[in-house]
Formats: sequence, C-alpha cells, structure tokens
Amino acid sequence: MLSKKIEEALNAQINAEMWSAYLYLSMASYCHANGKPGMGKWFEVQFKEEQDHAMIFFKYVISRGGNVSLKAIEPVPTEWNSTLNVFESTLAHEQKVTSLINDLCALATQENDYATQSMLKWFIDEQVEEEETAQNIIDNLKMINDNGYGLYMLDKELGARTYTQAAPLAGGE
Ligand code: FEO
Repeated sequence: MLSKKIEEALNAQINAEMWSAYLYLSMASYCHANGKPGMGKWFEVQFKEEQDHAMIFFKYVISRGGNVSLKAIEPVPTEWNSTLNVFESTLAHEQKVTSLINDLCALATQENDYATQSMLKWFIDEQVEEEETAQNIIDNLKMINDNGYGLYMLDKELGARTYTQAAPLAGGE
C-alpha cells in the first residue's frame, strides 16, 4: 500500500516523464527540420525511452494498489539556436530529472517505503547514464566546432542508435 504522499509524487513523476518524452519528440522534429536526420532519429529513440520511464512508474503505482491519475502535459519548447544548444538543453533537462529522482528517493526514505526506494535504484543508475551520454555528445560537438564533415559523421553515428525496451519493462532489472 502506497502512502498518499508517495502516490502523489509518483503520479507527478509519470507526468514529468511524459513531458520529457514530448520534449525529445520536439527536439527530434527540430533536428529533422535542420538537416540532421541522424540526430532526429536519436531523439526519437530518446522519446521512446521516456515513455518507458513513464510506464515503469505507471505499472509500479498499480502493482502497489495505488491510483494513476494522468495530468495534462504542458507545452514544450519547439525552437533552439543550434544543434549544440539542443544537446545542452538535453543535459540541463536530465540534470533536472536527476534531482526529481533524488527528491523521490528522499521522500521514500522519509516515509520508510523500502519498495519504492528499491524501484528507484534503476532510475538512479539510468540518470548517471543519461547525463554522461548528453555530456559526451556536447563534447563531440564542441570538438567538431561546425566542421561539415565532422557533423556529417556524428549525425550518422547518432542515427545508428536503436531502441531497446527498458529492462524493468522487459522483465529484467
Ligand atoms: Fe526519464 Fe531521461 O529521464
């Protein structure tokens, strides 16, 4: 049985993950419209991953006998100054999500909710990866510094990314 406080916080996180999905779909659209189809595809995979994150929370709330209440998804930005700016915004957003996950963890500790703490462990590890990936792409873009061939190669590399269902949904850890 979930406490009301935890149930509300988990529902807010479902909304935050759906907003993230929406944000990355918008970034995918920006990249496609600005001649970066590989990066566009990379963000489409990111969009699917965020939907997975929302579904992990969704299924968890149900499994603990809680109620899911879906709120409206607020509008997301649609314009960025450059490809570098898109990935800098990605990193800033992931840092924000990390702090949301940390807050959830602190609340679960305060409420002595060990099951929720255990479920959140996957997200704590995932956020380390999310921030590192965005930082690596930013570093690459800065190194390339608008070199056409470099951008072409990076776009191609990012376009090779494929979607894999998140482990907690696929039956793994
Ligand atoms: Fe759901 Fe990218 O964190």
